[in-house]
Amino acid sequence: MNHHTQVGIIGAGPAGLLLAQLLYQQGIESVVLESRSRERVESRQRAGLLEQGTVDRLRQAGAADRLDREGLVHEGVILSYNGQRHRINLTELTGGSCVTIYAQTEVVKDLIRLRVETGNPVLFEAQATAIKAITSSTPMIQYTHNGEEHFLTCDFLAGCDGFHGISRQFIPESLTTVYDKVYPYSWLGILANVPPSTHELIYAYHDRGFALHSMRSPEISRLYVQCDVTDTLADWPDERIWAELQIRLGTTGWTLQEGPVLEKTITPMRSFVSEPMQYGRLFLAGDSAHIVPPTGAKGLNMAVADTGQLFDALVRWYQDGSTTDLDNYTACCMRRVWRVQEFSNFMTEMLHHNRDKSSFDQHLQESRFNQLITSRAASTLLAENYVGMAAKRASEVLS
Ligand code: APR
Ligand code: PHB
Repeated sequence: MNHHTQVGIIGAGPAGLLLAQLLYQQGIESVVLESRSRERVESRQRAGLLEQGTVDRLRQAGAADRLDREGLVHEGVILSYNGQRHRINLTELTGGSCVTIYAQTEVVKDLIRLRVETGNPVLFEAQATAIKAITSSTPMIQYTHNGEEHFLTCDFLAGCDGFHGISRQFIPESLTTVYDKVYPYSWLGILANVPPSTHELIYAYHDRGFALHSMRSPEISRLYVQCDVTDTLADWPDERIWAELQIRLGTTGWTLQEGPVLEKTITPMRSFVSEPMQYGRLFLAGDSAHIVPPTGAKGLNMAVADTGQLFDALVRWYQDGSTTDLDNYTACCMRRVWRVQEFSNFMTEMLHHNRDKSSFDQHLQESRFNQLITSRAASTLLAENYVGMAAKRASEVLS
């Protein structure tokens, strides 16, 4: 079958779904192609910390009703060093900003429900296999659905197909630069059926490795421990996970409540940027162009920021034919992407134990941590990056 739409979107993660919804509200038609089933997309456990700018975009998209009811607003975050805790007062240090805990899975469910309700369903189990005529005014996506081959022509293509998608490969290699860093540790994450033992997130450096106490709701905890890159889930029975969490997060006079583990996954840690994010009429957004280690909780927030930027530029083109914002897309995104890369790398290097580091570098790491908790200037910098102000400022320089 051959069909046409204004914006062809590959991928129904947060980037693709949000773009479709924002465009729909402006009367711009799109088709979203997703290789997985709806059940699979709605059940993937990802991070769950939303910056204010992300919450604002979801509100703009009319997708924040449940988020506004159920999201947990946090005005501070706790850093721990071998059991010694220090609270960073995000709201005070940033002149009023905060973050909201609400799972990415729930954001995705909300966006899919909206799409279905507005009569524009996502094409699930529709796998994009090629992108063609990218530099023409009618680029095309070739995809398979229900065992048949289809061709979707569009005005613009949005590659929102994540790190393992196909879109990035269609930007000529001769024009592309890739920046990549792989970290020598992974995260083992659990979802546990137990109320969180803390009101605010705890990021812990420990000589045995990093740990993080996060949450999903007043009933469900989300916790992570640093593990070796070669570890498998078989190496981590529940008792071992809880024992490590108790030690790494522990402090005098506080107990971590344990409960049934609902889910366990191991995630490798990587920083990756592919530049440019646009070629002809193809625009990449989110993980298809860049990924960060999860320590700064930035993956989803960057995907939403790219999407907002792309949406604004497309609206401008449809309203008055101006290509200025489309032409500036890579440059504006890159300012933000590198700010976020630097922050995610900083948080990762400061909070993990790397036994291959020299003792000199381990002392530097400890000193960096001490500066962070003793200097208001250093705490302010962390807070501005954590709530998303620093990244917003970086991207505004060019706009
Ligand atoms: N055809 C159709 N869909 C595809 C294809 C393809 N060839 N390849 C990948 N996809 C789909 C994936 O199945 C996935 O649902 O694209 C979607 C990409 O979604 P995400 O990986 O969630 O990426 P993005 O929307 O950029 O969101 C980034 O997700 O991975 C987390 O930490 C990351 O929080 C960040 C966020
Ligand atoms: C999460 O809740 O999953 C989460 C929170 C903060 C992070 C990473 C993950 O830095």
